[in-house]
Formats: sequence, C-alpha cells, structure tokens
Amino acid sequence: MKHLPGVLFSPVSGGILSCHDAYHFISSAATHWADAIITDPPYEIGVAGESWDQVELNIPFFAYHFHRTVKPTGNVFVFCSDRQFGRWYDCLNEYFDNITKFAWHSTNPLPRGKRFISSIEFALHAFNAESYFNPDKKGAHNFFESGRTGGSERLMKPEAERAKLNKGQKSLHPTQKPLSLMKYLVECLTTPGDFVIDPFSGVFSTAVACKELGRDYWGTEYYLEYWDAGRERINAPHRKSQKNELKKARTISEP
Ligand SMILES: C[S@@+](CC[C@H](N)C(=O)[O-])C[C@H]1O[C@@H](n2cnc3c(N)ncnc32)[C@H](O)[C@@H]1O
Repeated sequence: MKHLPGVLFSPVSGGILSCHDAYHFISSAATHWADAIITDPPYEIGVAGESWDQVELNIPFFAYHFHRTVKPTGNVFVFCSDRQFGRWYDCLNEYFDNITKFAWHSTNPLPRGKRFISSIEFALHAFNAESYFNPDKKGAHNFFESGRTGGSERLMKPEAERAKLNKGQKSLHPTQKPLSLMKYLVECLTTPGDFVIDPFSGVFSTAVACKELGRDYWGTEYYLEYWDAGRERINAPHRKSQKNELKKARTISEP
C-alpha cells in the first residue's frame, strides 16, 4: 500500500482530510484545540492481514496527546481491541476524571473456528466533570447494535481487482465502521459547529458522520488508497443518506 512522503490535504466544506502520520499529526496539534477526538486506531492484531495492524501502537504517547489536544470540556472516544483495552484504560485514566467502557454489538459478525464468535467491539470514553454530553441524548446507552457495514455504504476495491479476490477480500477497508454508529457517537459527544478530530481515519467514517451532522472535522489517514477513497466518499453528491435528508427537508418545507 502506498504512502506519499509529506502531507496531502484535501479541504472539503467543513473539514480537512489529510494523508499524514497520526504520530506527527497529534504531536504537532495545538493544545486544547478540539472539542472531541473520536477514533478507531489499529488493533495490533493483523485484521485481514493488513500490515498497518501488526505494528505496536504507542498508547501512552497517544493518551497524553489526546488529553493535551482536546479542550477540558471535550471528549475522547477510542475503539480498542481486547488486548489493548487495559493499556488504553490505564493510560487515559492518568489524565481524565472519568473513563467508561462502550460496546458495539455487530448483529452479523464473521463466523470463526472453535470459539465464541466475536460480535462485540469495545471502546473507551474518557471525559472530565465539565465535558459536554448532548442533553437531548440523556439516557443514551453505552451500547450500540447494528450490522457490519454493508450494501451501498461499504466501499469496495476497484472492479478489475475484485474479480481475482475471494468474497471476504473485496471490500476496500477491512474495518470500515457503520455510519449509524459513528453518527450516534458524534451526536452524543458534540454539538453542531464543534471541531472533531480522528487521527486514524481509514475511509473517513467519522468525517462523514460529522459532515452529515454539521460538525467540523480533521481526519488523518496514513495510506493513500484509503485517503483517496475517503476523499471521494465525502465529496460524493448523491449518497443515499444525503438523498434521504434532502427528501425530508423538502417534505418539511413544502406546503
Ligand atoms: C481501524 S482502522 C480505522 C477504520 C475507520 N474507522 C473507518 O471506518 O474507515 C485504522 C486506520 O489507521 C490507519 N493507520 C495506521 N497507522 C497509522 C498512522 N501511523 N497514521 C495514520 N493512520 C494510520 C490504518 O491505515 C487504518 O486505516
């Protein structure tokens, strides 16, 4: 997979998508700048054999910089694999008043050999006493249930490449998160106009959720292929949910 030396930016209305290294991005980010960090870092377990997921992540480094970058009224939300959960918890706990767990339950997980099918993914929400939580979402659970990203929402590899691949290898990104899940998080943890950052953007699901909900965002992804696909995705004028929004708006304003 290609990464171009240097930094590539793609300013889109309300946000920035950059092809950039998360270590560099977060260590050069201004202090107390973002309203929220909502991110899904590599799990260190080699998902679908991707090399980016086999490298050990410097979790103490990211916990420190996440705390430094987010406003004291802000929120940090990090997905993590089972083996990372304890490390993320301990590191974030050094800086934030509160840490709570969150679970995403996938209703159609991939079957695996002689063990429980892994259908739950954990995340941690780190926040302070004064951190924002959407008052309209009072009572929201730390649990979200949905299918894996599928249908027209799932980004696929180019047609010519797909022909040679097995069924499970045809999607572009092995861990593309469902937009409904990302929108739930963005709505609970931020308010319209807030600035959200995601240093490990993949195909920019956090950014798309922010765009659809009127939040500003800066997403960073290391690999050119994902960045490029994310850029196209966010600029696509005819996505299904945008069409539905438009239909709703027409129904409301039309006599
Ligand atoms: C778990 S995936 C995120 C998927 C994303 N939530 C989505 O819906 O598309 C983690 C991403 O981090 C990227 N990544 C890994 N190391 C990175 C680094 N040092 N800087 C920036 N991105 C990195 C990987 O390429 C991968 O796309």
